[in-house]
Amino acid sequence: KTISVIGAPMTFGQPFVGTDSSPALLREQGLLKDLSSLGWRVEDLPDLDFNNICSEADASLSLLGGDHSIGIGSLAGILRAKPETGVIWVDAHADLNTPDISESGNMHGMPLGIMMKELVPDRRVIPGLEWMEEGTSPRLRPDSLVYVGLRDIDKAERKCIRELGIKAFTMYDIDHLGIGRVMDLAIDHLLAKDPNRPIHLSYDIDAVDPLHAPATGTAVRGGLTWREAHFVCEHVVKSGALASAEIVELNATLSDGQGASETIELGHQLIAALCGECIF
Ligand code: ARG
Ligand code: MN
Ligand code: MN
Ligand code: MN
Repeated sequence: KTISVIGAPMTFGQPFVGTDSSPALLREQGLLKDLSSLGWRVEDLPDLDFNNICSEADASLSLLGGDHSIGIGSLAGILRAKPETGVIWVDAHADLNTPDISESGNMHGMPLGIMMKELVPDRRVIPGLEWMEEGTSPRLRPDSLVYVGLRDIDKAERKCIRELGIKAFTMYDIDHLGIGRVMDLAIDHLLAKDPNRPIHLSYDIDAVDPLHAPATGTAVRGGLTWREAHFVCEHVVKSGALASAEIVELNATLSDGQGASETIELGHQLIAALCGECIF
C-alpha cells in the first residue's frame, strides 16, 4: 500500500500567515518515518506552489495544510478522479459560505459552498477560480457530505444546511449520542447506498478543543476531546473506505511555544491514526 503525501502550504484563505509552515513542521517531527513504520510505502511529493498554480490536486493522498481553502482544489481533484466520493468534514465550522453570503470574506470559510452547485451556480466569476469550468469541474452533492464537530455556524450557513438537507453532527450530538454512535451514523449515511464508495476525510484541527489544539486561526471552545479527536480517525480507517485525507488550519505562529508544539504533535498523531496507528 502506498500513500502520497503532499504539503499544501496555503495561507490566502484567511488573514494569518503561519499555516504555510505546518507541512515542514509535521515533516520535522518525523511524520513520514512513522507512516513507513506503519507499513506504508511513502511517496513524498513536493509541496504545492500556490504562487504559481491554481488547480486541482491529485487523488489518493494525504494533504498537509495550509488553511481550509485548499479544500477547493483537493475536492475538485478527488471528485474528478472518483466522482462517487463521500466527504466527512470534521470542523467547528461549516465552511459553507459563498462570496455572496460570507460575513468575513475569508475563503477558508467557503470551500464547501463553492463545491455546491446549489450555492454557486457559476464559479468562474470568483477571482482565482476561473479554471473551474462549468460542466467539467466536479461538484459535491449535498447528500455526499457529513459534518462532525460543528459548533460555530453562521446564520446563512445554517439556512443552507437545512435547505439542502446536509447531514450534520454538532457537538450537541456528540455530547448526546457519544462519538462512537455519531461516527457510525456518519459513515452509514455515506455508505448505506453504496458500500464501495471512497471516503475523503477533511480534518480541520479547530474541530478539536483549543485545550489540545490552541495554535489555529479560528479557535472555538467546546470541541472534541483528545480521544474523540483520535477516535474519528481510527473509526474512519476501520470502515475500510478511506481513500484520501487532509489536515488543515494548523498555525504554529498563533500560540506560545508549548501550544504550538502540542498542536503540531496532535496533527501528526491524527495523520498516523489515519494511516492505521491504533491503541491495540
Ligand atoms: N464561518 C466563519 C467564516 O466564514 C469562520 C470560518 C472558519 N473556517 C475555517 N476553515 N477555520 O469566516
Ligand atoms: Mn474550522
Ligand atoms: Mn461566527
Ligand atoms: Mn474548516
